This record gives sequence, C-alpha cells and structure tokens, in this order.
Amino acid sequence: MSNTSIDSLQHEERRFPPTASFSATAVATSALYDEAKADRLAFWARQSRDLLHWHKDFTQTLDWSNAPFARWFADGELNVAYNCLDRHVLAGNGDRIAIHWEGEPGDSRDISYAELTAEVKRAANLLTKLGIGKGDRVAIYLPMIPEAVVSMLAVARVGAVHSVIFGGFSAESLRSRIDDASAKLVITADGGWRKGRVSPLKPAVDGALAKEGDLSVEHVLVVKRCDNDVEWTEGRDLWWHEEIETVDAEHEAEAFEAEQPLFILYTSGTTGKPKGILHTTGGYLTQVAFTHKNVFDLHPETDVYWCTADVGWITGHSYVVYGPLANGATQVLYEGTPDTPHPGRWWEIIQKYGVTIFYTAPTAIRSFMKLGREIPDSFDLSSLRVLGSVGEPINPEAWVWYREVIGGGSTPIVDTWWQTETGAIMISALPGVTITKPGSAQVPVPGITIEVLDEAGTPVPAGGGGLLAVTEPWPSMLRGIWGDPERFKETYWDKFAAVLDKPVYFAGDGARLDEDGDIWLLGRVDDVMNVSGHRLSTAEIESALVSHPIVAESAVVGAADETTGQAVVAFVILRSEHVEHQTPDEASALLRIHVSEQIGAIARPREIFIVAELPKTRSGKIMRRLLQDVAEGRAIGDTTTLADTSVMQIISDKLSKG
Ligand code: WTA
Repeated sequence: MSNTSIDSLQHEERRFPPTASFSATAVATSALYDEAKADRLAFWARQSRDLLHWHKDFTQTLDWSNAPFARWFADGELNVAYNCLDRHVLAGNGDRIAIHWEGEPGDSRDISYAELTAEVKRAANLLTKLGIGKGDRVAIYLPMIPEAVVSMLAVARVGAVHSVIFGGFSAESLRSRIDDASAKLVITADGGWRKGRVSPLKPAVDGALAKEGDLSVEHVLVVKRCDNDVEWTEGRDLWWHEEIETVDAEHEAEAFEAEQPLFILYTSGTTGKPKGILHTTGGYLTQVAFTHKNVFDLHPETDVYWCTADVGWITGHSYVVYGPLANGATQVLYEGTPDTPHPGRWWEIIQKYGVTIFYTAPTAIRSFMKLGREIPDSFDLSSLRVLGSVGEPINPEAWVWYREVIGGGSTPIVDTWWQTETGAIMISALPGVTITKPGSAQVPVPGITIEVLDEAGTPVPAGGGGLLAVTEPWPSMLRGIWGDPERFKETYWDKFAAVLDKPVYFAGDGARLDEDGDIWLLGRVDDVMNVSGHRLSTAEIESALVSHPIVAESAVVGAADETTGQAVVAFVILRSEHVEHQTPDEASALLRIHVSEQIGAIARPREIFIVAELPKTRSGKIMRRLLQDVAEGRAIGDTTTLADTSVMQIISDKLSKG
C-alpha cells in the first residue's frame, strides 16, 4: 500500500457505536474478553464444551510441548458431521431450514436439517462402499450445489479428509493437488451454471487424470447438475444419483479423536508450489462455531445468514459449511455469479429469503459501488442487521457505502481478518460491543493474542507499523503443511525464532496500530498477491509463464486495482527465436490463455508486457518493486542497486510508446 493511503487511513475519524437496542440482545458481550484474558485455555475449553457435542470429553485443552505442532483437546472424541447435523435433529430442530439453495438459472431447493442429515448419511454409506475410510483423501471439485456441502460432511462423517479444489482451477492445478494428497476418490459434476452458461467441470477431471501415474484415484463420482454431455471412463466413473440409491439410509456417526485430520486446502505461498494447509477437527470446529456465533451475532432460530464465498476457499469451508451448520443456522447457498441474469441478483436473493446476516468481500462491494446505488436501492434490504467483510483490506469509502447503501445506515459492519492457515476469524469487531471504525479490522477476537512486531520482534507502540504476528497458539490453527513439516516451520515460525524465545506465528501481513491500539491491515509483505480476495503467488504465475516454449524469462507483480484490490501484471522476455515471429499483442494473448490453462482463469494476468530486459540487482534478483512502479503508472523509484540502471528507462519508454 502506498504511503498516501496509509496517511489517509490514519485520518479516518468516523466512529459507529453500537445502538442500545442491538447491544441489548447481542450474543457477544464484553465479558468474553475478560473471561479469555483471565484464563485463555479455560475459555476455549468452556467454548468447546458449550458449542460442540463431544462423544468423549477431553482432559487436556492444549498440548504445545512439540511446538509449533499443536494438539488441542487431543484425548477428546467427536464427529464433525454429527455436530453439524444429527444433534440438531435430535434436539427437535429437524424441520429448520439448513440451506436455502438458489441455482443460477433460478431453480431452488429448501433443505431442512433432517433432510440434509439424511442425505449425508446416505453419502457416508456410499463413501464406505467405495472403500473410503478414516484418513483417506477425497478430492472435491464441484460447483456451489447442495452436493458440495453433502460431500464435505460425508467425508468428515467417515473420518476421511477432503481436499476441495475451487471449480475455477484448471486440469493442471487439479492434477497437482490430487497427486500431492494421493486422493482415492474425486467427486465432481458434469458442470455448473456460471454467467448464464453451463461451465463444464468433468473435462478438467478427465484431463487431470489422463496422464499416466495416477494410481491413487480409484473412482470419480459425478453429480448430474447441467445434463451436459460428458466423457465416461467405464469402471472408474460413477453417477452420484445412481450410486446413492444403492446404499442404506441409516448411518451411525462414529467418534474420532480431536486431532483427526478434517481437510487439506491448498493455498498459494511465496514459491511456485501451493501449500496443502492441514486442519483437524476439535479445535477447528470450536473456533469456527465460536466466531460464527459471536462475530455475526447469530440467533439461529430467527436469522437467515448468507456468506457469498465459494466452498473452494477457506471462507466457504469455515463460514458456509462448518461454522453455520455447527451452530444450527439457516443459510442461503447460491450457485452463480452476482450479475446473472441481472446486476441486482444478490439483492434480489436477500429480499427473497429475508437475509439478516450477510458476509462478502470488499472486491464485490467495490464492483457494486461502481454500478451505483440505484440497483440495491430497488430491492428491500431492510431484513439485514449485520454485515461482514473478508479477504482483503476494505477501504473506508467502501465500508461506509456498504453500511449506508446495503445496511440502511444502521447495521454494524464486522471487518474480519484471518487466513486459510488460521482456519477461523482472528481479528474482528464484535457487533453490539465494539465501536467500529471504517477501514480497521480492529481487535483480536476473545481468546486470540495478536501483536504487531518490528523486525526485532518488539511490539510496536500505538501509532507504529510492523508485521502481524499471532503470539499464542489458537484452536483452529493449521496443524501443518501436508507432507512438508519443514516448510511449515520455515514459512510461519522461523521469522521470529532468532529474536524471540517462544514460537510466534508470522502471518505474512503488514499492519499498523492506531492511537487506540486498533489494528489496520496493510496487505501482504511477501510475494503473495491478493486479487479479488484470492491469494495468488507471483512465483507460481512466473513458473506457469516460463513453462511456455516462447518464454525466456518472466516477472509478475500485483499492481493496485480499483476493483480487485490487486491485479496480476506480468513482464515477459521472449526467447530470441520467437521475437520476430510474434507481435507483442499475439504473444501476450497466447500467454494469458496459457496461464489460465496452467493454473486457472483467476490467475490470468490483466496485462502482459513483452520486454527485452528485466530490472535485476547485481546479485541477479528481479526488482519487482520497480516493475510495480511501472505497472501502477508511478514514477520509478530508487534504481541505484540495479546491475544495469538503463533497463528501467528502456522498459518505461517502450511501454509509454504502447
Ligand atoms: C488477506 C481469506 C485485510 C490477508 C480468509 C491474509 C485481509 C490473506 C482480510 C488470507 C481483512 C484476509 N483485511 N486483509 N479483513 N482478510 N485478508 O488465505 O492478506 O485466502 O493474509 O484467507 O487475505 O487469504 P486467504
């Protein structure tokens, strides 16, 4: 973030105290902070017992003796799916709607807790029939349809481990994730609806499994969603709707130990290879349930909650599937894009279901701002009472617009900071308690300890800036990187190891503290970009680019973008034998497609500049900072450490000529 925006953030003086009527019935009270402060572990133990059903109670809350590998509630036993389903039915809430599902073409289904439980039981029996048991990995590549939720819960129910792969990822990305986790089963669909068209999914699975050496995958289970034609591999491929008829309706949930792996979710890091972030059950479910209830002020009997995230991301795991269902919430699940068939589709859905709690990303809010308030103004949004934001810093203007236009000028806004690795919300206001400030995520949630540290590991004073660090272990923390314990230590725990005498988690985000001690997030400090709230690695896109035969070298930067936060901008040197055969426009069009194929459309660069040189230091390191200046149209910064100081002049001259 540039210095000017940091300055303007510092001068944000608008404050929004909770109303007395909201506070009067709020789930969270300031007593939570006191309780957590008095005894953090006792606080989490109480939350865990209050919020979850334990088949066998635990005797030890945290085992940190092998730090940074944490064990929470380790001798306790539970079943995640039982917690999200059966117990609500047994408590007499079987008729409550769990999911109001809305398909993009306008088809819809209301699914009660009793119905969802019945579907998951059958799916669990089907998994067992297909040989999936405790610890086996199942890849899930589905659109936002009820079967996505059913599949995740069924996998959890039998003690297996899911790896959900966002439907926007390509066959290549899918393949590497299936391989890394040695998945035995892939659950997919023929396609999903997107932007008014069928977007096929099965071909990517076929492509991912086409090459030799995929011994791990035994079956592909295919949900029929769009009825589009699919290729079929006899013996391997099975239709969901046919198979589900062949199994028993009854299924008893078995208890598993609290540290049983629940899922692996791949996310981009600073190298070319995505990291398989591993989460387990007891601690994860405790913190997602706690935060979902307290941060969103959930009253499960009356609220209708809607989180717009895809289940392919951590937000979908924690705040579409596990948090809301553990809490017995009623929620909306929407398949499609916000602007199909018209730009008011989201607001129409809020009106239709009377959504009371709404959770989305700043990039979406900024796109709606651009379209103008007339669109949301033409729907009845008066049911809304809490609004949430996640994925990237929300600029104060978007925050205020969100509150005014979507929230009718009265709803509290919770700006929630967290990561795939943290599993659940870590920093957020609590509605009914916190006086909110546009642009600041504000305070750690009760039971979480966060500090902003300088390079020496010293907490910065009020007004100072530094690196965001989590200084005590937390229940939903990642338990590791799948198959790579060393990378886990290096990436998150080595940063402060030399200067501090206890393990401290380095988040990779910069932050500053204001005069009140509130936290303002400033974006990543590493080579990870944040495009529309999605994490992308510069190294991963660079390696996709150089995998193309015409490319000699590439450098990727995240350039500031008004709507998407950051946008991918690439600088590419072509191999000399190709320079003459391809115009820069042709080459960049070709390479944009290539990146989509290698990683997925989300990683496709907004712009690719074909250049003759890249700016490098004398030790050969690419100076991305300078390329970022060019990509953002700024005056080029300090070039004194460049090996060849004329190169930046050449690049910017070339670009200004078009
Ligand atoms: C960024 C998404 C500022 C941050 C849940 C983090 C945020 C990365 C916020 C994690 C927020 C997420 N304010 N920045 N409220 N929420 N981020 O793993 O840079 O997809 O490190 O998890 O998103 O992205 P991830």
